[in-house]
Amino acid sequence: MENEKKKTVFSGIQPSGNLTIGNYLGALRNFSQFTDEYDCLYCVVDQHAITVRQDPAELRRRTYEVLALYIACGLDPEKSILYVQSHVPAHAQLGWVLDCFTMFGELSRMTQFKDKSQKNADNINAGLFTYPVLMAADILLYQADLVPVGEDQKQHIEITRDIANRFNQVYGPTFTVPEPFIKSGSGAKVQSLAEPEKKMSKSDPNENAVVRVLDDKDTMIRKFRRAVTDSGSEVRRADDKPGIGNLMTIYSCFTGKTDEQIEAEFAGKGYGDFKTAVGEACAAELGPIQEKYKKLLADKAYLESVMKNNSARAAYLARKTLSKVYRKIGFTSV
Ligand code: TRP
Repeated sequence: MENEKKKTVFSGIQPSGNLTIGNYLGALRNFSQFTDEYDCLYCVVDQHAITVRQDPAELRRRTYEVLALYIACGLDPEKSILYVQSHVPAHAQLGWVLDCFTMFGELSRMTQFKDKSQKNADNINAGLFTYPVLMAADILLYQADLVPVGEDQKQHIEITRDIANRFNQVYGPTFTVPEPFIKSGSGAKVQSLAEPEKKMSKSDPNENAVVRVLDDKDTMIRKFRRAVTDSGSEVRRADDKPGIGNLMTIYSCFTGKTDEQIEAEFAGKGYGDFKTAVGEACAAELGPIQEKYKKLLADKAYLESVMKNNSARAAYLARKTLSKVYRKIGFTSV
């Protein structure tokens, strides 16, 4: 119906590190499927990125890059709201309020905090600890119904729901309690090419373990060809073949083929042929995106106009929720 209010989708990507095909398949690629039926906001979450040290010039550059990637992946900045988190002050403002509705104990249980504090033992700052609260603020500010994220963010959506429910219980209905949208099956989980029992990570020091969204075709093929596989030569999914299983997952995501189809396609062929085919399939999907991306990145003025217009649209929506919250908790306004 014309004037029936659409539901809202919110998601964000940090402008830290070079995005991997894991980030692409787990999150980014799924974003455009919602844009017809939902009001969508896709944010470049630069405030989350500074929970670990960032080089300022690099952070700035990557912020443009993620925005350009959003558009290159088919998101339309006239339709969806594509913007930068630090351009909308309400995120930090609501974040502070929600900090006061989040328990030390529950934040201590966040597995990402535990992981990240192990990896950054010399910089376990308070922002790293309250990271999930800022994420809750991102989502709750826009009354989002659905949050498409990778599997690793599930716990953060759960705490967001807990915070929303807690606030609503004290002050009456204020926030929509969001649902996660996690791509079911294998697409949500892409593993390292060097150690297939570990997740493919943006910050892996071994560059051969990671395929980047922006790697050129030859690099992609070379990395897949070097992927650790198991002894044997049969392309088949099995518990003792995590390397091949991971490549089958990736191939299946890019081609839409099932395990049975893949096994039939490579029956009697070796791992080498299969690995090359995975690289080709990956490059075939990402090549056109890279072309668009390069053109967009060369047009800074355009990207800046997108940032400006879209942060104004986001700020308008955010302010509505923030004022409601301020009123409910008893802040004065003049
Ligand atoms: N924490 C998310 C990640 O690292 C990024 C993020 C920040 C996010 N705020 C969000 C994702 C809000 C979804 C909704 O992937």
